[in-house]
Amino acid sequence: MSKVVLITGCSSGIGLATAVYLAKQGNKVYASLKDLSRKDKLVAEAEKENVTIEMLQLDVTNDASVTEAVAAVVEKEGKIDVLINNAGYGVMGPAETVSMEQAKAEFDVNFFGLLRVTQAVLPHMREQQSGHIINISSIAGIRAMPTSDLYNASKFAVEGLTEAMAPTLAVAGIKMTLIEPGPVDTDFIGRSLQLGEKLQNVEVYRKITEKISARRTEMFKHSQKPEEIAALINEAITSEKPDFRYQTSEAVKEMARAKLVDLTGNEIIEKSIEGLR
Ligand SMILES: NC(=O)c1ccc[n+]([C@@H]2O[C@H](COP(=O)([O-])OP(=O)(O)OC[C@H]3O[C@@H](n4cnc5c(N)ncnc54)[C@H](OP(=O)(O)O)[C@@H]3O)[C@@H](O)[C@H]2O)c1
Repeated sequence: MSKVVLITGCSSGIGLATAVYLAKQGNKVYASLKDLSRKDKLVAEAEKENVTIEMLQLDVTNDASVTEAVAAVVEKEGKIDVLINNAGYGVMGPAETVSMEQAKAEFDVNFFGLLRVTQAVLPHMREQQSGHIINISSIAGIRAMPTSDLYNASKFAVEGLTEAMAPTLAVAGIKMTLIEPGPVDTDFIGRSLQLGEKLQNVEVYRKITEKISARRTEMFKHSQKPEEIAALINEAITSEKPDFRYQTSEAVKEMARAKLVDLTGNEIIEKSIEGLR
């Protein structure tokens, strides 16, 4: 059955692929972009796939922008069936090297942005007594990696928020799901990756970060395609009883499993330290 879907962060990557994928399944997709002048890639992809996608401006850090975008969808469609909180980026580098402005900006988008859009959509879903909120988390929301300090913290926050909200919303007839990808071939480690402003000042941090960056580049050579994530999101929103968490690959499942059985946390930390030597 066709659903009204609102997605954040659709100029590239997972947001763009999901907008096109879900439109191809016959859904009414509202793809939102922080900056509408960056819509060309989405327009080109929609044309190529011969699908209609509504595009609207939505900066997750801006109250007015969020309120207006949500109101525009509700005015046109009378409802929002699915919200996909996808917008996000990564501040990388040891915590000490990250300025407070960078740290706050990371949370402003990845956590408070997601919360802001969710709060704007929920009154409508409560009234409908239905709806499904998909939060794009990450394996970084379950398992922390050295030098991903602020990004990990923001995704852990998303995980905690979603896990706490889900039961209450279930009683109100609203579903919540976390999507937890590993590396995905998007603009994430290029355009959407920001290094700590003070990284160059501390040799030990710089060396560790270089090592991890090289490893990350290697890992991303085996990344998933954003369309695979889109297909999993489609599985979740069409399922009668969707899972609460979806790890997107066997490798990610394995990483999550190792974390969840390590009750003291010692093994994960030791493994990470070994990787830095
Ligand atoms: N790629 C991965 O390996 C990976 C793995 C796990 C999880 N994720 C998560 O997947 C999500 C999508 O990332 P991606 O990989 O698709 O990267 P991407 O291609 O860089 O896409 C990120 C999107 O977020 C948007 N965005 C940033 N700030 C925003 C704001 N204030 N308001 C609205 N939109 C904003 C960007 O818009 P602009 O173009 O205007 O900047 C862009 O459209 C993120 O939450 C990320 O943490 C990615």
